[in-house]
Amino acid sequence: MKVGIVGAGFVGSTAAFAMVMTGAANEVVLVDANEALAQAQAQDIAHAVPFASATAVRAGSYAALEGAGVVVLSAGVAQKPGETRLDLLERNARVFSAIIPAVLAAAPDAVLLIATNPVDVMTQIAARISGLPRHRVIGSGTVLDTARFRALLADRLGVTPKSVHAHVVGEHGDSEVLLWSVAAVAGVPVERAAAQLGRPLTAEDRAAIDEGVRRAAYRIIAGKGHTAYGIGGGLARLVAAIAGDERMVTTCAMLNDTVVGVPEVVLSLPRVIGAGGVLDTILPDLAPEEESALRRSAEILKEAADGVER
Ligand code: 2OP
Repeated sequence: MKVGIVGAGFVGSTAAFAMVMTGAANEVVLVDANEALAQAQAQDIAHAVPFASATAVRAGSYAALEGAGVVVLSAGVAQKPGETRLDLLERNARVFSAIIPAVLAAAPDAVLLIATNPVDVMTQIAARISGLPRHRVIGSGTVLDTARFRALLADRLGVTPKSVHAHVVGEHGDSEVLLWSVAAVAGVPVERAAAQLGRPLTAEDRAAIDEGVRRAAYRIIAGKGHTAYGIGGGLARLVAAIAGDERMVTTCAMLNDTVVGVPEVVLSLPRVIGAGGVLDTILPDLAPEEESALRRSAEILKEAADGVER
């Protein structure tokens, strides 16, 4: 599949690199307002191709997106130390008004995969600007937070993250909800699995993991100024699932009819990803406190999105 990436900064270029290393796409086109940057990133990534998959990597204009099955949108300003994801909203909404019509003029059949923050509200804006069916406008959402949750739990339990089933739903941001009640290893609820593995999870361990997931980006941004590898890996994985019609289940964001009583809001839930985008959504059984936390998260996102709509 041909994949376009608009925004060749840290996130877009890392996603392209991850696609090359994993063989997620056979052609990647990088587009950026800074053409020299897109050219340089494409060349640098192309030099990794001999060590990886036979992917054609190049920079181009919007017209070069013709025939793309997925276009990743990673353009816009990113969080600086001390900023929340929602702080970026107005600036990045303006960027999307310019980009999306240009993308669709060249690649009218593409799935849009949004990574720009605040990703949930940006996905809502992209759905509105594009007018595409909602299953074709996907936000990376909590694909990354779910990965962080699985990684931290796996580390605590002494198993590999791929063997931990756990999900983060709601906002990709401060109000996200870690679904402890349905986290499991080998189908065994995580607390009982932890005890069996001789590594019981205390309330303090759970609080530390929750904080570790929720605050991960702040800590990483304080240390290196941005985050890129986790999200780049997640974007490449989503692209592979679409390209291969995998029907992979992962958390990611899209416009929902109604979630926990909140109508027309973009947030993350576990979804089935395959050809054409989101094929289905699964609402896990939520504990009462998880359900009210998800409702709070949905209300925060709805308010932020309505604020841009006015
Ligand atoms: C992240 O969570 C900043 O949203 C970005 O890494």
